[in-house]
Amino acid sequence: MSTNPVFSCLRPGSELHRTYFAGSLGGYADSLLRALSGTDEPSAVADLRQAAKLSGPAGVYDGLAMLQAALMPEPERLAWGRYMSPYSLATAIAAHVPSGGAVVDPAAGMGALLAATRGGSGLEKSPDLVRCGRLAQRLCPDDAPFRLDEGDAFDPSEGPRADTLVANPPWVLRAELPPQALHRLAAHPRYADLLRHERFDLCVPLLVEAVCTRLKPGGRFAAALPVSIATEHIWTRFRNGDLFQQCGAAVSLGFVDPPDPSAFPIQFTLCVGQVSAD
Ligand SMILES: C[S@@+](CC[C@H](N)C(=O)[O-])C[C@H]1O[C@@H](n2cnc3c(N)ncnc32)[C@H](O)[C@@H]1O
Repeated sequence: MSTNPVFSCLRPGSELHRTYFAGSLGGYADSLLRALSGTDEPSAVADLRQAAKLSGPAGVYDGLAMLQAALMPEPERLAWGRYMSPYSLATAIAAHVPSGGAVVDPAAGMGALLAATRGGSGLEKSPDLVRCGRLAQRLCPDDAPFRLDEGDAFDPSEGPRADTLVANPPWVLRAELPPQALHRLAAHPRYADLLRHERFDLCVPLLVEAVCTRLKPGGRFAAALPVSIATEHIWTRFRNGDLFQQCGAAVSLGFVDPPDPSAFPIQFTLCVGQVSAD
């Protein structure tokens, strides 16, 4: 059993159990936020504060990720790839990009990667996770602030482009994709043939689109990807840069072994790359 104090909030009979497991699973972030601003703090928030004191952002983000894993219905997690990075993985990704400059995370979850890069801006599709990310920032007031907005990484980007992109994009195989995501991808001619493959994974188009539309020329990126992306034939056009080229950017990339392969239950690799400066 982990010694993370946040585990105590999941004990049967704890306030969290009474409040959340007994009732609806939705709206947990709202409830946590309400609790945080009230005088009568439930043990979950008190435990998160304690985790912040003991382990800084790692305690807060890993604690919130654990709550999210326990409270968000599994079908929702599976369909949208809502599996948060352990903070150790967030720092490993951040270590592969230069510090300084504008940072973006196109699928930011609660913002763990932005906390690890010490600032930047993130997009996240789930409003619950955006609220959790704001709660995390309130629990780590000494950390560099970052901006977290509800949004879709596939929407055209209107803001200025970033110097650096970090991501643990949603890993979702074709069979799990929600119909609206499937239809949207089918509209992109560059993914049509890949979509026919059962090993199709959402993480690739999301990363390609984000790199091509949100990074400056010369910008660098680092992303956690399932190891299949580095090895399987279906992803040759990702590895050799063709998919990026079709999306308008010349990109070079490589793969590095993660420092702690056990950080995630699925075998993964770190993809590190750069957009050509011309
Ligand atoms: C694997 S999680 C990683 C979250 C966070 N970057 C981290 O490392 O902890 C991927 C996130 O992408 C979000 N997501 C899925 N599709 C998205 C989209 N089209 N636009 C923005 N976010 C999306 C999911 O809700 C999920 O929170």
